[in-house]
Amino acid sequence: MAALVLSRNVAIYSTRRLTEAFRARGLSLSVLDPASLCLKISGNTVELHEGGRRLPNPDVVIPRIGVLTTEHSLSVLQQFEILRVPLTASADAVRIAKDKMGCLQALANAGVPIPETTLARQGPDASWAVEAVGGPPVVLKFLTGTHGVGVFLADTAESARSILEAMWSLEKNLIVQRYIASAAGQDLRLFVVGDRVVAAMRRTAPEGTFRSNLHSGGQPSVADPTAEHIDLALRSSQALGLRIAGVDIIESDDGPLVLEVNSSPGLEGIEDATGIDIAGAIADEAILISKGGR
Ligand SMILES: Nc1ncnc2c1ncn2[C@@H]1O[C@H](COP(=O)(O)OP(=O)(O)O)[C@@H](O)[C@H]1O
Ligand SMILES: [Mg+2]
Repeated sequence: MAALVLSRNVAIYSTRRLTEAFRARGLSLSVLDPASLCLKISGNTVELHEGGRRLPNPDVVIPRIGVLTTEHSLSVLQQFEILRVPLTASADAVRIAKDKMGCLQALANAGVPIPETTLARQGPDASWAVEAVGGPPVVLKFLTGTHGVGVFLADTAESARSILEAMWSLEKNLIVQRYIASAAGQDLRLFVVGDRVVAAMRRTAPEGTFRSNLHSGGQPSVADPTAEHIDLALRSSQALGLRIAGVDIIESDDGPLVLEVNSSPGLEGIEDATGIDIAGAIADEAILISKGGR
């Protein structure tokens, strides 16, 4: 069996662990940057080329591109779909997950509880965007972003408005979200593979900060998710159409809320914190998908 990981960064921990997991199963895994692939479509042929040579069809593709997804990467995924190559995530699923508003829309549409969120028209609607989620403090987020970069807390309506206006002047839009103070700088990351939550960690933001991402200094610890957390994580990954997903959940006074669903969740922090072989679970799922098992 030939499995292919598409990753913008071939030398990272997650990719290395996936390679080890396939090797442990006596299988080989290739890793390619989707930016290195060329596409050809004509009346009756659909092809992918790499380095001037036609790429043989793999048996399964595992996209690991997340927020680095470009239009080109999405075209590559779609080309594999047309070639009937099984994928752990479709082009549509990756596209929607990459966009924070699109992701929240898909979750809301599936009845998954999320923090109240607005996306304002650039111009006179800054005050509305802040008041409509309950007023300050509010969280502002770039539409695409990860690792907590591009996520801000505004304590006053005035600071929220000035951040929005500054970003709008740079042609960047932001979503505005109710700040869930009761989360107290903690969230849960549930790692979904197939129909299971295979691992969960709690992340705690450094004292005096609110972003719990490991890249922002958050500390991971093993978490024991409740049945409700597990149900929310599975409904969220299904709403996005992802077989592999990292679902971020925070605790509000009214119960757990889903913040976002990541289509290429990192393995390093969560494998370290939990000791669980998540790469192995992904390999098993990919093998199942390659056999038409989903
Ligand atoms: N509405 C919110 N209320 C409280 N904390 C939040 C809120 N939104 C985000 N956070 C904190 O900021 C972190 C990063 O936000 P998130 O939406 O997951 O963006 P990213 O894609 O950068 O990880 C979350 O893990 C959480 O700790
Ligand atoms: Mg996150």
